[in-house]
Amino acid sequence: GLGLRLYDPGFQNTAVAHSKITYIDGEAGVLEYRGYDIAELAEKSTFLEVAYLLIYGDLPTPFQFRQFHDEVTHHTFLHLNMANLMRSFNYDAHPMGMFISGVAALSTFHPEANPALSGNDMYLENSQIRNKQIFRLLGKAPTVASYAYRHRIGRPYNQPRNDLSYTANFLYMMDRLSEDEYTPNPVLVRALDVLFILHADHELNCSTAAMRHIGSSHVDPYSAVAGASAALYGPLHGGANEAVLRMLEDIQSVENVPSFLEQVKTRKRKLMGFGHRVYKNYDPRARIIRKVAYEVFEVCGKEPLIEVAIALEQAALADDFFVSRKLYPNVDFYSGLIYKAMGFPTDFFPVLFAIPRVAGWLAHWKESCEETGGKIWRPRQVYTGEPHRPYVPLNHRG
Ligand code: SDX
Repeated sequence: GLGLRLYDPGFQNTAVAHSKITYIDGEAGVLEYRGYDIAELAEKSTFLEVAYLLIYGDLPTPFQFRQFHDEVTHHTFLHLNMANLMRSFNYDAHPMGMFISGVAALSTFHPEANPALSGNDMYLENSQIRNKQIFRLLGKAPTVASYAYRHRIGRPYNQPRNDLSYTANFLYMMDRLSEDEYTPNPVLVRALDVLFILHADHELNCSTAAMRHIGSSHVDPYSAVAGASAALYGPLHGGANEAVLRMLEDIQSVENVPSFLEQVKTRKRKLMGFGHRVYKNYDPRARIIRKVAYEVFEVCGKEPLIEVAIALEQAALADDFFVSRKLYPNVDFYSGLIYKAMGFPTDFFPVLFAIPRVAGWLAHWKESCEETGGKIWRPRQVYTGEPHRPYVPLNHRG
């Protein structure tokens, strides 16, 4: 029988965890990390400080931040075998596929955090072992991402520069210039750091729920982050920032906006970058990203497709089809325009989402490890298949 189970496809109204990390008020369009409003953090904080806040619960003291910064910076390098792994991909392999594979491969290096290698699944109880994996994943995610990119453009892999900030180092590793030619552009470093802050966490979104789900089996955190990255890759989730750019390129000009919206209303197309499971109001991140876009355009030149995006937003927000469904721009609607203006290839956009989201995934992984007796996730279902029936031998079938 059905029993007393609640049938809630897509977890539209199911809470599967208690968490102290991020708070969202979907109706009001509010987002807070550990009680701090996202707009204030975007204006006053840095990504690495926000990563500390999400993972450890409070803004770090100067000493705590120095220690955290040094630990993460100390773990930015990759084993030579990782470079060989990256070289084994096709030159035009999608960088998100390379990122997922690279992070999964990291699980084969660290036995103390991998019960499959060490035979000991009690590592979750040991905060020192947990912290070491947190430093490694935060440090190495940008390096894995940059290797995927450098492989694509056929250039040598830049080794991390520990004299640069987290985001400046990432931009250096991506840049075409060599070590002595490269000087960070402070406007671009700051813009990407703000984008990293905005993408760092978002309570139990699809990929973070995957991180908790996969982590609940006590697998190592590298494999769990690879699985979470795979969930993020989808066009309904973090892959949407890439899909938005392709949509804008399809529409091409402001004149085509009305006919495109007609296709959306007749369900031939989705308005990518719009709508959200939780926000039934403007995504506060989208508002900040649109402002950052113009700051980046000052340096890199204006991305003309922003006019199409603005026209799309204005038309949709005045159209009852979208208003009645409470569809507003989400975090992915404007971010790709910034990445394109900065020179990143379109298919690299989901990787730029994954890098900062590693901090959120780790915060949730750590929180679920600390839950006393973190239980394995094993949801139930409502069975709607065939009732019991006896086996029919092959020569007796129709
Ligand atoms: C992210 O969860 C998170 O927090 C995610 C994220 C994070 O930080 O982790 O915020 C990041 O993934 C943002 C979302 C990026 N995805 C997209 O932009 C893809 C386009 N958006 C949709 O696919 C959709 O809005 C979702 C997936 C985001 C939400 O899907 P839901 O909650 O299951 O909503 P739904 O599909 O049931 O839509 C409700 C109604 C439907 O209309 P009806 O069929 O009931 O008449 O709204 C319509 C949908 O058809 N609708 C859309 C639409 N989104 C919803 N119609 C056209 N275009 C859209 N984008």
